[in-house]
Amino acid sequence: MEERLVSAGAGEEEQKIDRALRPVNFNNFIGQQKIKSNLKVFIQAAQEREESLDHVLLYGPPGLGKTTLAYIIARQMGVNIRVTSGPAIERPGDLAAIVTNLGQGDVLFIDEIHRLHRSVEEILYPAMEDFALDFIIGKGPSARSLRLDLAPFTLIGATTRAGLLSSPLRDRFGVVNRLEYYQKEDLKRIILNSADFLNISISAAGALKIAESSRGTPRISNRLLKRVRDFAQVQGSGEIDEEIAVRALGLLEVDHLGLDHTDRKMLTVMIEKFSGGPVGLDTLAAAISEESETIEDVYEPYLIQIGFISRTPRGRVVTPQVYRHLNIESKNYVQKSLLD
Ligand SMILES: Nc1ncnc2c1ncn2[C@@H]1O[C@H](COP(=O)(O)OP(=O)(O)O)[C@@H](O)[C@H]1O
Ligand SMILES: [Mg+2]
Repeated sequence: MEERLVSAGAGEEEQKIDRALRPVNFNNFIGQQKIKSNLKVFIQAAQEREESLDHVLLYGPPGLGKTTLAYIIARQMGVNIRVTSGPAIERPGDLAAIVTNLGQGDVLFIDEIHRLHRSVEEILYPAMEDFALDFIIGKGPSARSLRLDLAPFTLIGATTRAGLLSSPLRDRFGVVNRLEYYQKEDLKRIILNSADFLNISISAAGALKIAESSRGTPRISNRLLKRVRDFAQVQGSGEIDEEIAVRALGLLEVDHLGLDHTDRKMLTVMIEKFSGGPVGLDTLAAAISEESETIEDVYEPYLIQIGFISRTPRGRVVTPQVYRHLNIESKNYVQKSLLD
């Protein structure tokens, strides 16, 4: 994927910063109130019964706090967490090695769980349901199956695309949570906390400007904070105030809705080449030289959320707000499309 300032995925360098800024308990985890309060109840109930926590599925766009929540849950339960990802578990044996090494009540966190291999997924079912692994030993008529008991554990799965999970897998999660894009007030608090942690001086108005440009995503807030700080340091007084925040975001080509060059390009292409739509995902992807999957996972969810794109059975359509936002006269395109 192209390096984008407002992309929500994390590169390697950024993962270090992610870890440093990652809240370690529910108090520092801002927003997502409903998810937090429900999880707290489930955790307390499991602890009172001295049981492992039910399996938890977390889904939603990148950068909203899925990994962070998994760590907080394990810490709150007072158990160890083992972290892996769907594509990293290549064979059933790899999964068997992991789950047999889990202690009582431990958390197994599988990121990108929609990318688990089918053969691995199949041995996960009895592991989740009965805390057991089933093996077939031998071949033909002499084959017999062997069951190995495991310590009860909690699987936490994270995915950007719950729709890609097979239904037998989805059905085995007792707790399913969808993370939502953050309100700008919550992002502002996250930015102020991060600034505090990183020793950056920032005004409330400056924080709000960065929050507005963060696409509802804490990871982007933290990234923009650091870039804006560079401008404040080199071109300003060192403090991030409203003025320097606006100027820096302008120079970074991130607008007040958090759209960057790629978003604007995609929307412009939809208008100019496809008369505003409907345009099919693959056609659009080819027109802007992007992967369909990237559009679907990363660009589009936010544009849908702010009402800039709608999905119809015949493809994606831009809404009238986009013409206003991009300062494009919509009439021309309507007329042009009638002439075509
Ligand atoms: N609710 C939150 N409160 C404060 N910071 C958050 C919150 N959610 C995410 N973050 C920040 O955003 C970064 C990315 O979150 P992460 O859990 O890695 O997202 P995901 O796993 O959903 O892609 C974290 O390192 C943390 O700094
Ligand atoms: Mg993650």
